[in-house]
Amino acid sequence: MTFTTKDLTQRIGTEVKTDLETLLDGSIAKELRALLVKRGVLLFRNLDMTDEQQVEFGWTMGNVRLEHGNKITKIIADKTQSPIFADYTEGTYYFHIDGTYTDTPGLASILRPLVLAPEGGQTQFCNTYALYEDLPTDEQRFLDGLEAVHSGETIMRLAFPNPTEEQLAAWGEQTNPPKKHPFVWQHKSGRKSLLLANSIKYFVGMDRAESDALLAKLLATADEPQYIYSHDWRMGDLLIWDNTGTMHRVVPFDLNCGRELQRVTLLGEEQVTGVRAPA
Ligand SMILES: [Fe+2]
Repeated sequence: MTFTTKDLTQRIGTEVKTDLETLLDGSIAKELRALLVKRGVLLFRNLDMTDEQQVEFGWTMGNVRLEHGNKITKIIADKTQSPIFADYTEGTYYFHIDGTYTDTPGLASILRPLVLAPEGGQTQFCNTYALYEDLPTDEQRFLDGLEAVHSGETIMRLAFPNPTEEQLAAWGEQTNPPKKHPFVWQHKSGRKSLLLANSIKYFVGMDRAESDALLAKLLATADEPQYIYSHDWRMGDLLIWDNTGTMHRVVPFDLNCGRELQRVTLLGEEQVTGVRAPA
């Protein structure tokens, strides 16, 4: 079997129909990589996959990154089961791109559910290529010249406006310094996307109120339905997203419900690079 596709929305997300054997032998990996960049999110349904097979699929798509020494990471809000990630769950309720505090954000992440949330818990994605491409030319030129400072504390404060000393020690700027990036990422392909996220603390060189207003306006546009794919998890799903051309967030859910996913992350292959002058 090779594969067939069905778009999930007009601007973002495609369901790919194939079988486990085809996914794991890498024979369609090159086509899937191209489709991933074009569509932002790829969904496979009814796959009875193991942890090892999820990692194996990751290797066909790129280079699997070790997270705290592991090729696969449990995503669960229960601190006893996930001491490293559980405390960040509420921060993931806000649109973000993973790794905006580094030069080279991860290429993609691959998720598969083990326990579903009875309510909420959908993962939502926003196409940040489309956001840029839809802007009027004068606005694109203005944004092309901007830089933004990203900080983990900024997004975590949305969830915890009055953090404790302990929380600040874990995710505050003292331990996790902010990172400056060009706001428009011109990828090696030449295409441009917005490095938009709730981790943006401010735009460099702008009055703070003006910076906050611009960020709020862009985030409000990002919430328009034509840019979003909202994924309702079913057992047997496997989903991969292009972390360099989409933002993601999770819809709030009961943190005690046992919702659990397994994540494999692919190493970034391109540094965030600003807009190049036309040749
Ligand atoms: Fe994330």
